[in-house]
Amino acid sequence: MAHFVSHLEAAIDGTVLPFGTVANLHNGRPIWVRYDLDRVRGAVTPADIAARPPTLWRYRELLPLPAEAEPVTLGEGMTPLLHCPRLGKQLGLSNLYVKDESQLPTGSFKSRGMTAAVSMAKWLGVKRVALPTAGNAGGAAAAYAARAGIECFVFMPHDTPVVNQFEPHLYGAKAFRVNGLINDCGKIVKDGTDRMGWFDLSTLKEPYRLEGKKTMGLELAEQMGWTLPDTIFYPTGGGTGLIGMWKAFAELRELGWLSSANPERQRGGNAHPLAGAQGSPGMPRLISCQAEGCAPIARAFERGERFAELFPNAHTVASGLRVPVAVGDFMILDAIRASGGTAEVGAEARIGEWMRRASSAEGISVCPETAVCFDVLERMVAAGRVKPDERVVVFNTGAAPKYLEALPADLPRIDKDGIDWSLIAG
Ligand SMILES: Cc1ncc(COP(=O)(O)O)c(C=O)c1O
Repeated sequence: MAHFVSHLEAAIDGTVLPFGTVANLHNGRPIWVRYDLDRVRGAVTPADIAARPPTLWRYRELLPLPAEAEPVTLGEGMTPLLHCPRLGKQLGLSNLYVKDESQLPTGSFKSRGMTAAVSMAKWLGVKRVALPTAGNAGGAAAAYAARAGIECFVFMPHDTPVVNQFEPHLYGAKAFRVNGLINDCGKIVKDGTDRMGWFDLSTLKEPYRLEGKKTMGLELAEQMGWTLPDTIFYPTGGGTGLIGMWKAFAELRELGWLSSANPERQRGGNAHPLAGAQGSPGMPRLISCQAEGCAPIARAFERGERFAELFPNAHTVASGLRVPVAVGDFMILDAIRASGGTAEVGAEARIGEWMRRASSAEGISVCPETAVCFDVLERMVAAGRVKPDERVVVFNTGAAPKYLEALPADLPRIDKDGIDWSLIAG
C-alpha cells in the first residue's frame, strides 16, 4: 500500500489508532489522520505538485488514499483566488481576496470533503453511507456516492433550503426531511447504523472529510506562492473547513514548504498587534464567523471555554451554519486560539444585503454563510481590528442560487402594453 499515513490519532486524548479499517469516533470525539511528513518531504516537492493537473488530488501525498486506488472524483479543480478591489474599497481594504468555492462540483466546498471521504469509503469496501445535512453536504455526498456506485441515505431538517432538499434526490440518494435540527438527523443516522448497516459519513464523525477540506488550505498556500495571508474569514458550522485549513498550514510548516512573504508575522511571537497572547509566527489569524441565530462557537470563545454548549433555538437563513452542537467544537476553538484569531457573530438581518452587495461588487456568487463573514469583516475593519493593508482572504463556501429563501421574493414587474420607463430608470 503506497501511502504516507503513519497512523490515526484520537483528537481528544492522542490515542494512536490503526489506519486501514473503517473508523468513526474515538470516545465520542473525532480522529485525526497523521502522516509521515519526513517521507512526504523526501517523495515530493512543491515544484512536482505545480506540474500536476489542477485538481485537489495533486496533493496526493498529503491525502490518505493509497496511490494504487482510483479516487472517486468529479474533476474538482483548484478554485480561483480572486482579488476583489471594488469590494475591498467599499470595506477600506487594499488586499481583499475571495477564494471562490462556489465553482466546485455541486456548487460548494463540500465536494472537497466528499471526494476524499467517499474515495476512502469505497477503498475500505463500504457499500452504503448515511449522513445528516443542514444543506450542501447531502447533495455532495449523494453525487460522489453515485459516482462510486455506493448507496446513500440523507436526513435533513424539514426547513433545509429547497434546492438542497432536491439535490440528493436528483443524485439518486434516499433523501428524507426530518422535523428537527441537524443534531436530530445525526441521531437517526447513529441509531440506524446497526439496523441499516450503513457507514456514518457525518461531519467529523469519520476522519477523511477533514482531509479533503484540508486541501482548501494547501491550495490557498500554493496560490499565494507558498505563503499565507494575514487573516482568513471562514463561516463556521460543523467546523471541518476551519480545522482542516489549520491542519494543512501546520503540515506545510512542518514540511518546510512555507516561505516568509508575510515577514511581519514571521518574526518572533505573533507580530500582529491584535493577535492576543497566542498565535503562531507566519500563520494567519482565523476568524470564525457564525450567524447570530446559531453561534455556539462564538459564545464558547467569548467565555474562554474549550467545549461549546448546545445553542438553543438555532435558526438562520445561512443553513450551513445552523449547527447547534459540533462534535469537533474543541478542535475549532483550539485552532482559532492557536492562530491568535477570534470567533465572531454576523447579523442575521444583513445576510440578504451582504449577499447582494458582495455579489454585485465583484460578480462572485456569494452564499449566505459567506455574507455573514462580510458583516463581521466590515465591523472588524471599522473597529481597527483588521488593518487596511492586511492580506485578507474570505472563503465563499457555496453558490448563492441554491438559497432561494435568502433571495428577494420578487422583482419589479413590467407591463408590456404600457411600459413605465421611470421604473426602469429607477
Ligand atoms: C455553504 C456552507 N458554508 C459553510 C458551512 C460550514 O461548514 P463547516 O462544516 O466547515 O463549518 C457549510 C456547511 O454546511 C456550508 O454548506
